[in-house]
Amino acid sequence: MQNLFQDLNPPACRLMGPGPVEVDPRVLNAMSMPMLGQFDPRFTSYMNEVMSLYRGIFQTRNEWTLLVDGTARAGIEAVMVSLLSPGDKVLVPVFGRFGHLLAEIAGRCRAEVITIEAEWGQVFDPQQIEDAIIQHRPKLLACVQGDTSTTMAQPLNEIGKICRAHDVLIAVDATASLTGMPLDTDDWQIDAVTAGLQKCLSGPPGIAPITLNDRAAELIQRRKHIEQGIRPDNYQAADGEMIQSNYFDLAMIMDYWSEARLNHHTEATSMLYAARECARIVLQEGWQTRFARHNQTSTALVNGLRAMDLEVFGKDLQYKMPNVTGVVIPKGVDADKLRGEMLHDFAIEIGTSFGPLHGKIWRIGTMGYGCRKDNVLACLAALEMTLRRNGHSAPAGAGVDAALAVYNDPSHDAFSNNITNA
Ligand SMILES: Cc1ncc(COP(=O)(O)O)c(C=O)c1O
Repeated sequence: MQNLFQDLNPPACRLMGPGPVEVDPRVLNAMSMPMLGQFDPRFTSYMNEVMSLYRGIFQTRNEWTLLVDGTARAGIEAVMVSLLSPGDKVLVPVFGRFGHLLAEIAGRCRAEVITIEAEWGQVFDPQQIEDAIIQHRPKLLACVQGDTSTTMAQPLNEIGKICRAHDVLIAVDATASLTGMPLDTDDWQIDAVTAGLQKCLSGPPGIAPITLNDRAAELIQRRKHIEQGIRPDNYQAADGEMIQSNYFDLAMIMDYWSEARLNHHTEATSMLYAARECARIVLQEGWQTRFARHNQTSTALVNGLRAMDLEVFGKDLQYKMPNVTGVVIPKGVDADKLRGEMLHDFAIEIGTSFGPLHGKIWRIGTMGYGCRKDNVLACLAALEMTLRRNGHSAPAGAGVDAALAVYNDPSHDAFSNNITNA
């Protein structure tokens, strides 16, 4: 009982797992700002600013760019339950754990779910996806961009166009990839994108930025049923089937974020402040610098790991996410013991893995604020020490030297994949 009355005092750790990652101090600062009433014009203008900022983040002109309160899966669930009626067909290309999550959520919306699967560590050829679309004629294709469970990213630039050509909607889960690698919502013709703050956006978990284009928004509006008690005069419900969830009813959430300000939930004030600051940080840094930073760090980490005689996970590293790297656990090393020692002795957290990769790879995240040279060097040095104590000896200092070589090389082109082959 005594502990209950002690002040919170969590240690500062380098969070180098697949998320959550270190929160940018600017975001923590924003979260400590005073509460405002939800209809205070200063607060509603922050809501409008958030919409505008996230249009920049999602690279879109979509009016309906807003926050869903809840973790990243809240955004996914809101999009699915608002777009899908029972019996609708959904196609999910699964190349890791989060593809299964999309299928699971679509199933709970009582959709007819069809999956195609790629081995964990690989991605799909766009032709495979087009073939499945032609075969199954789904209403919606739901696809993950970067699946942290395998560290692989599905190229999407052609998939949106394929969906549009076949009159299929496409929803993308960009939770783990957004702002760590390009995602051009409008250019790639993606109808809905969902994300979370706790990865490259360098915020805490708990809010899901989403964007919807007119195709998606019109479908949702056709299902608008406003709850009793807040209905305006002359209210007439839309013809379409009522959305099965109240909390995730995007038709009502859109009203809350519009000038109508029809009260739905109470907006998570401090999380909105956080989301606003996360977006400002990204847009102030600029895309070129940001992607270059993530690519360079990925290369430095991969080269460092290889110099320590470690194998980087993935058949074709051109599809590796720049912000997460899988390391094959050397034979004989107790994976969880090593992770525990990294955390206990060096205050560095690296990630375990799920499903078929459990016990086979560790995952190291270098995302947003956490995507830094000092993090990479500290992680490689700590890994070398802990590996040595656990039976895998690497050449002393080789990992750090190889990573530093990437950072110190002015000819290093951070936009290309400069990962050297072992
Ligand atoms: C690609 C992807 N999608 C969805 C999620 C689920 O996010 P949350 O735990 O915030 O609901 C994650 C979390 O790691 C993720 O990496």
